[in-house]
Amino acid sequence: MKYLIFDTKKEASVESYKILKSLIDKNSTLGLATGSTPTDLYAEMIADYKAGNFSYKNIKSYNLDEYVGISYDHPESYHKFMDTNLFDHIDINKENTHVPDASAADLKLAVKTYQEELNNTQIDVQILGIGGNGHIGFNEPGTPFDAGVHVVDLKEETIKANSRFFDGDINLVPKQAMTMGIKDIMRAKHIILLAFGKEKREAIRSLVEGEEITENIPCTILKNHPSVYVLVDKEADFK
Ligand code: PGA
Repeated sequence: MKYLIFDTKKEASVESYKILKSLIDKNSTLGLATGSTPTDLYAEMIADYKAGNFSYKNIKSYNLDEYVGISYDHPESYHKFMDTNLFDHIDINKENTHVPDASAADLKLAVKTYQEELNNTQIDVQILGIGGNGHIGFNEPGTPFDAGVHVVDLKEETIKANSRFFDGDINLVPKQAMTMGIKDIMRAKHIILLAFGKEKREAIRSLVEGEEITENIPCTILKNHPSVYVLVDKEADFK
C-alpha cells in the first residue's frame, strides 16, 4: 500500500489523477465513486480531456453504488451526480457507463444483472472514498468480505453524514442503497482511495496503521489487495 499525504484535497486530487493516468490506457475500465471526495479528481479528468490529452471514447465505467428510493433525475442520485460531475463533460459513450439500477421495479433482478456485468468485466482502477465508519462503497460495518452486489440498509451515521446533501434533513436521505460488494471491489487491478477531512482520520488509521483486518471496519480488507494507493489531506492523516 502506498500512503501519500498532501496539504489539501486539491493537491491530493492532482496527484491521484497522475497515478490514475499512469495505470490506464484508452481502452480501460474504471470503477467510479460519488460523494464529495472524488470531485476534484473528476475536475482534473475533465481539464485534461478538454486540453486534448485523453479521450474516453473507448473507456468503460462501473459505479460503486446508488441510492434506492430516489429517481435518476433527483439532483442527489448518483446517476445524476456522475452526469453533472464527469460524464457530461468528457467524450465517454454513456452506453459504456454503468451505475447500479437501484430504482428498478425488480430490485433483485437489478442486483443479479449488475453482478453478472461485474463478473464479466475487469475493472482496471477502482476509485474509492471512505466513510467515517470505514465503509467502502456502501459496504457498511459488518458486511461479509465475500459479499457481492447487494441492497444495504444504510447505517445511521452514514445517513447523518449524507444529510448534508439533502438540506441537512435526515428524513430526506434514502435509507437503502444498492452497492458493489467488497468482493467486487477487491477484484479491481488497482485501487486509488481518497480521504479528506478529520472525519475520515480513524478509518484511515485502521486502514494504514492498524493490524486488524475485520468486517467491522470494511476498509481494512484493502490491506490484502496488491495495489492500493491511499491519498489523504493532512486533516485525514492520523500521524
Ligand atoms: P464523501 O463520502 O465522499 O461524501 O465523504 C465518502 C463515502 O461515504 O464513501
